[in-house]
Amino acid sequence: MELSERATILTPSLTLSIDSKAKAMKAEGLDVCGFGAGEPDFDTPAHIKAAAQAAIEMGFTKYTPSSGTPELRQAIADKFKADNGLDYKPSQVIVSNGAKHSCYNAILATCQPGDEVIIPSPYWLSYPEMVRLAGADPVFVQTKEANGWKMTADEMQDAMTPRTKLVIINSPGNPTGAVYTRAELQAIVEVCADEEILILSDEIYEKLTYDGAEHVSVASLPGAANLTITINGFSKAYSMTGWRLGYLGAPEPIAKAIDAIQSHSTSNPCSFAQKGALAALKGDQQPVADMRDEFDMRRNYMVNRLAAINGVSVVKPQGAFYVLVNIGKLGLSSSNFADRLLSKHQVAVVPGVAFGNDATVRLSYATSLDVIKKGLDRFEEFCKTL
Ligand SMILES: Cc1ncc(COP(=O)(O)O)c(C=O)c1O
Repeated sequence: MELSERATILTPSLTLSIDSKAKAMKAEGLDVCGFGAGEPDFDTPAHIKAAAQAAIEMGFTKYTPSSGTPELRQAIADKFKADNGLDYKPSQVIVSNGAKHSCYNAILATCQPGDEVIIPSPYWLSYPEMVRLAGADPVFVQTKEANGWKMTADEMQDAMTPRTKLVIINSPGNPTGAVYTRAELQAIVEVCADEEILILSDEIYEKLTYDGAEHVSVASLPGAANLTITINGFSKAYSMTGWRLGYLGAPEPIAKAIDAIQSHSTSNPCSFAQKGALAALKGDQQPVADMRDEFDMRRNYMVNRLAAINGVSVVKPQGAFYVLVNIGKLGLSSSNFADRLLSKHQVAVVPGVAFGNDATVRLSYATSLDVIKKGLDRFEEFCKTL
């Protein structure tokens, strides 16, 4: 059977083999410490669940407008204003089936064959694949550990060509935990404004910042609003990964195009999940703060332990819930490292080759402190053998 070229260019998920091996080992009864999690290990707050349950009971189980209910789009516009200083009208807000879907919609609406998209590396592994699905070409900018894994405006400029259409900024970032400062973002915005390059700003980890790092929304910076698509969602802030709800704010013509794409592809995101999302935005924000504090404590523990291990280095992440560990001096590829760590010491990490950097592995601290302690003991033991 002949598949489309589009389908065959996709790279199968490199993280999958480690993940399925870890699951198989667990099923055999082995005590595996998993550092692979890409989602908070907290339950969705009760008031959010209750709102969705009530919506089901009340029969709110039918189609909604394709881009989301008017009340949720209004609440998101209010959130953008209050939290981020952004002036999106509800008509500029599109609710989708997860921030991943919002990113894909945004790329489909703006990029086509012949276009290039600049992606700072290490990157979230879905960006390049989405760009390829749109027929465009990803252009990677290798960031430096010494610069906290952040792309500078100069580095971006070096990667630009007349074909550059879009740049993807993800702050706080996965897998690096890097948080760009206002000045760093402003410098990038200025480069983009000069050449009319669009910016996809994925702000899904907005609520998870540490050490007083300030989350700055790119679209709030001078000259950025007309160039920027702001992506956010409910998965990480409210532990709602399974609900599949994300959203974006975009300049009106882009929002309109995305509305059309979504109306012909997926239609509306789940009706009663949208009621839960409304409760998330309007309700008590204490669970978000409590989760952040717990992550902060684990982050400090993990970084201190890793910093004391010979042969590896870490930049203290200021956001998200990942630590990117540089294992370059230990002489193994990231897949080989992850494979041996799992088979010999029952610790699962994600090889950095999946994120475009083969000298690193990613550890998530979205797991209990007990698992983190035990897993890092084993990680340390393993590094000593190399
Ligand atoms: C950087 C980044 N963007 C977007 C997403 C997708 O989030 P959602 O669950 O809302 O689709 C993730 C999830 O891992 C992510 O790490």
